[in-house]
Amino acid sequence: AAIAAPSGPLLGRHVVVTSGPTHEPIDPVRYIANRSSGAQGAAIAAALRDLGARVSFVTGPAVVPPPAGVQVIRVETAAEMRAAVEAALPADAAVMAAAVADWRVVNAAGQKMKKDGSDRPPTLEMTENPDILAWVSRAERRPLLVVGFAAETDDVVANAVAKRQRKGCDWIVANDVSPDSGVMGGADNTAILVSENNVEHWPRLPKAEVGRRLAERIAARLAEIAG
Ligand code: CTP
Ligand code: CA
Repeated sequence: AAIAAPSGPLLGRHVVVTSGPTHEPIDPVRYIANRSSGAQGAAIAAALRDLGARVSFVTGPAVVPPPAGVQVIRVETAAEMRAAVEAALPADAAVMAAAVADWRVVNAAGQKMKKDGSDRPPTLEMTENPDILAWVSRAERRPLLVVGFAAETDDVVANAVAKRQRKGCDWIVANDVSPDSGVMGGADNTAILVSENNVEHWPRLPKAEVGRRLAERIAARLAEIAG
């Protein structure tokens, strides 16, 4: 079959995308996870690919399979994801769509934890994970354009504006992930694009369409800042 010659506004660009949840081990058979399906990250990676980008797709254990035609780097934990992002640099842009676990268990057990017959269940001691978005936003080899996500259940815009500042990224794509929004694990997303001096409410759209819009914005912005 004939393969179309690669083309598109992102030809020659490299974009790192993180996606999916991370799994943080408790012991060899148990972990802490979250409800991210990886659908939005996969849709963004596919859209970037369709515009001609070379995509490094760093994914946790997602429900949705990675798109074809991207370089897939599979990780489990936040620490592994951070290292994989670093190894994938340099890049023209980074899109951090992963739902990175905020905490991991200190000293995860090397053997399966057993009930000990007492009436006291184990207590898990947690510590904060590295913030990959904040790190890449201040990295020596910082991509020209860094895009983060903000999963919020309330005060979506105010939290996203503050998060953009705190993280040091260029854009934040904010979503309402409250249970009745149906976004987590659903087919649609309601995105708000927050940049330095603009807050743009997108209509409720299929995740594939959110991915296409974001990829087009990224292409336009890279053309603007890098010529
Ligand atoms: N993120 C990251 N590394 C982490 C935590 C979050 O890279 N350890 C990224 C996510 O991929 C997302 C952005 O930071 O692009 C915001 O994630 P979010 O969970 O909304 O923000 P947090 O800073 O973790 O704040 P909180 O969950 O307390 O609201
Ligand atoms: Ca978080």
